[in-house]
Amino acid sequence: MDLIPAPRRTERTERTERFLELGDGFGIEAGPGTEDTARWLRATVGAATGLALPPKKGDEYDVLHLSVRPGLDAEAYRLVVAPHSAHIQGGSPAGVFWGAQTLRQLLGPEAFRRAPLPGRTWRLPLTEITDAPRFRWRGLMLDVSRHFMPKDGVLRYLDLMAAHKLNVFHFHLTDDQGWRIEIKRYPRLTEVGSWRARTKFGHRASPLWEEKPHGGFYTQDDIREIVACAAERHITVVPEIDVPGHSQAAIAAYPELGNTDVIDTSSLSVWDNWGVSLNVLAPTDNTLRFYEGVFEEVLELFPSEFIHIGGDECAKEQWRESPTAQARIEELGLADEDELQAWFIAHFDKWLSARGRRLIGWDEILEGGLAEGAAVSSWRGYRGGIVAARAGHDVVMCPEQQVYLDHRQHADPDEPVPIGYVRTLEDVYRFEPVPPELTPEEARHVLGAQANVWTEVMEDQGRVDYQTFPRLAAFAEVAWSGLPAPAERDFADFERRMAVHYGRLDALGVGYRPPAGPLPWQRRPGVLGRPIEGAPPER
Ligand code: ACM
Repeated sequence: MDLIPAPRRTERTERTERFLELGDGFGIEAGPGTEDTARWLRATVGAATGLALPPKKGDEYDVLHLSVRPGLDAEAYRLVVAPHSAHIQGGSPAGVFWGAQTLRQLLGPEAFRRAPLPGRTWRLPLTEITDAPRFRWRGLMLDVSRHFMPKDGVLRYLDLMAAHKLNVFHFHLTDDQGWRIEIKRYPRLTEVGSWRARTKFGHRASPLWEEKPHGGFYTQDDIREIVACAAERHITVVPEIDVPGHSQAAIAAYPELGNTDVIDTSSLSVWDNWGVSLNVLAPTDNTLRFYEGVFEEVLELFPSEFIHIGGDECAKEQWRESPTAQARIEELGLADEDELQAWFIAHFDKWLSARGRRLIGWDEILEGGLAEGAAVSSWRGYRGGIVAARAGHDVVMCPEQQVYLDHRQHADPDEPVPIGYVRTLEDVYRFEPVPPELTPEEARHVLGAQANVWTEVMEDQGRVDYQTFPRLAAFAEVAWSGLPAPAERDFADFERRMAVHYGRLDALGVGYRPPAGPLPWQRRPGVLGRPIEGAPPER
């Protein structure tokens, strides 16, 4: 059946009939709480098969029963395909939805198209599948700041996530190179901050520039639509507003947010190059009030428990030079600039907690002391995650050495704009989110894992698809399936199942990296990445 991610347990039922045939009379009986899955099945499987899948009640034949069975774990499901009917039971509406994803895979790759091919009939193999995820946080981070992904592309990625049973969309909305979310009280954030006049093409060492404006942003209604679409797919959208570093776009829009006593921030523009900008937020009351205003609007739009405040790579040079920042350090009795950053983060930790939310940030938020209720996205390897889990903080494991999908996926020089580590499909398949150093008690703080897609060298959806797939399929299996220890994982079996999964991705129109390497139009000859042998794996 070649399912990805692999389910916990599958039994092929031995009978004379081997399939449940789906004809025009086939319908869905949706129990309480499963209406969204019925709607999703009609919209996707219905479109692919041409079957109307009408509502049914009390039928024994030609029906898919959907029901919530509270005895199961929330995201667990049981899928039974019998000769005349099928049943998906989930521990919650989410479990039912994940069961429906499996059912779609059982119908074959054509079930991933948007219209039926002529002459195709539809059937499900008789089976019993019992399944549940290993982790509750199965994340994908998409950086829409470095290169903007228009709304349709984001909605498409939600569908791609759902097809892989991923359930957290970490939406990296702001950075030095662009502010992508409308904030009503600060219109210049998008008027000024959402576009740049030109863009470095390739790694920052590349001499090439794309000499045209780049930009875009999501209106608040776009965001509402994205969040609602995600919720229908049982995906939580965790917004990231990156502070106090990675903020040059915001400072370009509102120069008073920057360290005006160090540089003339009114001359700054949205950054057109890659790397870590030295232009960071000033640690002033004005900045805090400004961002509280931003977060007030963010909280209204995103129901997520976790709100990501970035906290990574805040260059401290300007704070060291700024009399205002130094006076703040003195007034607060802090030791240094790291503690000043910790104070900044702690402010928003308290502010979010008071509003019933939880702060999550990159592992730099550990420096200078971790705020009380904060959780950590461990990106500089496992170390930050280990320290945080040992201190009783929740952790999402997304080490750059393993699951940064912007990093090249082969050592071949034909890889487009190769940066970072070489991380193949097999490397990602052998990624283990829980480090062996943690005790079982500490390991409970590992909420799960996340693959991160930074888009400096991905100028369009085709490049994002290429870097993300097929590796996201391997990542999904790591995050969902209860795989054995990395060395014991059966990569050959995964590859065998991938042969079928490529067919699903083809039907979905995903521009993945083919196993034999990039297609001619997926290459970027002459665009410099960071291909230097032995160089540090800097992005
Ligand atoms: C990061 O990659 N700067 C989180």
